[in-house]
Amino acid sequence: MDYNSLKDFTIDLAKSSGKILMSYYGSNLKIDKKSSVDLVTKADLESEKNIISTIKTNFPNHDIISEESDIISSKSNYKWIVDPLDGTTNYVHSLPIFSVSIALQYKNDTKIGVVYNPAYNKCFWAIKDMGAYDNNTKISVSNNDQLINSLLVTGFPYKQDKAWHKSFDIFKEFYSLTQGVRRLGAASLDFCFVAMGRFDGFYELNLKPWDVCAGDLICREAGGKTSNWNNNKMPFSGSNIIASNKKIHSSILKILTQKKYQTILN
Ligand code: IPD
Ligand code: CA
Ligand code: CA
Repeated sequence: MDYNSLKDFTIDLAKSSGKILMSYYGSNLKIDKKSSVDLVTKADLESEKNIISTIKTNFPNHDIISEESDIISSKSNYKWIVDPLDGTTNYVHSLPIFSVSIALQYKNDTKIGVVYNPAYNKCFWAIKDMGAYDNNTKISVSNNDQLINSLLVTGFPYKQDKAWHKSFDIFKEFYSLTQGVRRLGAASLDFCFVAMGRFDGFYELNLKPWDVCAGDLICREAGGKTSNWNNNKMPFSGSNIIASNKKIHSSILKILTQKKYQTILN
């Protein structure tokens, strides 16, 4: 496969869905509630339809995992992992922090990652072993090696269970050890902001494959490190993830591996 032209295909695809999202942005939103806090919009579903039908037309045998649809599988070595709208709550409230996130894996290894933020026309992308970019500019993680000088980002699970409460305890602890912790509401962009050095680290519980696959590659290709909370390989499932500039990774791990937080590990 020619990953360079596949990257162009993926960027075009993310941008065409970005156009759909922008056509509804700020108005015309038909909101269905998956739960009282987990929202899905008409734009979300149209964006997904566009992505799935374009992939199916061009690569009829590839597998597709997309948030709002059933898995499409013919046991192909190629798998597309799609979040047609990441940051739905922001989008619904006209906050411009949302994206279209698309990854392509070959034999479970991510080869291409694209995260497109249409509100700012910012396209983050990476090809395995070829670096990471913000539009045409190469990006890299920050140089900071001290937690006390760091700005972190995180997210909280929708479901208000035991893990939800613990994640606020963790937030509090990191807040006292760093320059701050932000909650932006679009995991794919959290990875990219670590990749471009705005944040030094990102951690979250209970994400999903479509939240993490593209951003994970972009972050690693920008010189960052990703893992789970036990310092094993970033899980495809999206559970208990860390992405950092590499230099503060062990300091983040030291906090998250404390016994008091282990009970919430999946
Ligand atoms: C959500 C966002 C958010 C994260 C949630 C995700 P969605 O994705 O990425 O930052 O904290 O866990 O579900 O629902 O907007 O696609
Ligand atoms: Ca998402
Ligand atoms: Ca989504």
